Amino acid sequence: MEKIVINGGRPLYGSIEVSGMKNSSLPILFGTILVGGPCIIENLPPIDDVFTALSILKSMGAQVRMLDRTTVCVDTKDIQWGSAPYDKARNMRGSYYIAGAELGRFGMSKIALPGGCDLGQRPIDQHIKGFEALGASVNCDNGYINASTEAPLKGGFVFMDVVSVGATINTMLASVLADGVTTIDNAAREPHVVDLANFLNSCGADITGAGTGVIKIKGVTALRGVTYAVLPDMIEAGTYMIAAAATRGKLTVTNVIPKHMEAVTAKLIEMGAAVEEDDTSLTVSVPGELNKAYVKTTPYPGFPTDMNPQICVLMCLAQGNSVILEGIWDSRFRYVKELARMGANITVEAKMATVEGRGFLTGADVQSMDLRAGAAMVIAGLAAEGTTSISDIHHIERGYEDIVEKLRLVGADICKVHVVESEQEELA
Ligand code: EPU
Repeated sequence: MEKIVINGGRPLYGSIEVSGMKNSSLPILFGTILVGGPCIIENLPPIDDVFTALSILKSMGAQVRMLDRTTVCVDTKDIQWGSAPYDKARNMRGSYYIAGAELGRFGMSKIALPGGCDLGQRPIDQHIKGFEALGASVNCDNGYINASTEAPLKGGFVFMDVVSVGATINTMLASVLADGVTTIDNAAREPHVVDLANFLNSCGADITGAGTGVIKIKGVTALRGVTYAVLPDMIEAGTYMIAAAATRGKLTVTNVIPKHMEAVTAKLIEMGAAVEEDDTSLTVSVPGELNKAYVKTTPYPGFPTDMNPQICVLMCLAQGNSVILEGIWDSRFRYVKELARMGANITVEAKMATVEGRGFLTGADVQSMDLRAGAAMVIAGLAAEGTTSISDIHHIERGYEDIVEKLRLVGADICKVHVVESEQEELA
């Protein structure tokens, strides 16, 4: 077991580069199943979820070759549908994109029900609705999603009952090779959806409207392999922007698309930060006091739920009482009891948190409850007085490339330590 240990209270200064986006890398990697030939994917984040995705593809019969740290060549010509290993697939969320991709290429799919962060109920009814609109039959038995079609998939119309990133992406994947036109209404507009559509279009798909609420997919007969670079990760970028504000340093976050960051930038400015924008970078500092804020998380272009824990840390360090209304997940606030160990005073009622701005946090031993909660603990540790030790950092490593080294290079006193076995037993 490893922990992250931080001696807090040091402002971060300098420049920090954002990696490729986790939540579009996964659908793009599994989207290569539809191509049935070699694709080169660049700007992949070297994170555990990406390595798991590549390992799953390899187990399914794909040829997978790393060309450098962030570039992979994947050839899915010889892939066998239904062969994704249960134990690997069940441990990540993005593995359910294999369902849409296999269904699109083979008309059949069998994949373990997915895992991922524990954020409350994570139903897949809208994914099933999308597949059924194309003529597929779907059942979930013995821990698997099984999807099949007797006739070739046929373009259809689906109105999503909730705005779902995953269901929008899965329906897109299943429909690119279907006969006729598929329309997804009330579609998710996240940059990840646009990134996947751009990848598939560069392979020869005919997708319009990605990034709006209505996406149209005109089926094509085949896709061809391409070289494609994944977009930068907006949540990683936002995490470092908040780290800059929380430590009252000055950080330039590079390799970002400022448009993707608008909701986070606007909230930081409202709270008293200064944000300077360049074409591909944002520089964050705090000239005066940090103010309280009201945040409601909503689908893109609203304030992202995946920034809820990080902005909460900043609210603890501000003046006055702030409020976060969580609009997506039922159990997003599991990190609150960990922040309380660091001196935070946060009251949670259902999906609303009231955060007392005490202006400080103090170091403590805390746990990373999930990926973004873990990132919030890192920010809290950087800003706190004293030493913070964070356990269960595998959650963080699923989604952040080398967070320890990136932060060390901008002045953080941070390291990763191995916990020796006897200490592990004591902790158990
Ligand atoms: N929902 C349904 N039915 C469905 C699908 C979703 O009711 O069939 C509901 C969910 O319960 C939730 C809402 O719709 O209340 C939105 O869920 P969505 O499908 O958009 O989430 P997801 O695709 O499972 C992705 C990201 C999450 C991120 C959410 C929201 C991946 C692998 N995961 O999840 O990212 O929180 O979108 O933006 O892309 C993370 O990266 O830390 C993370 C959790």
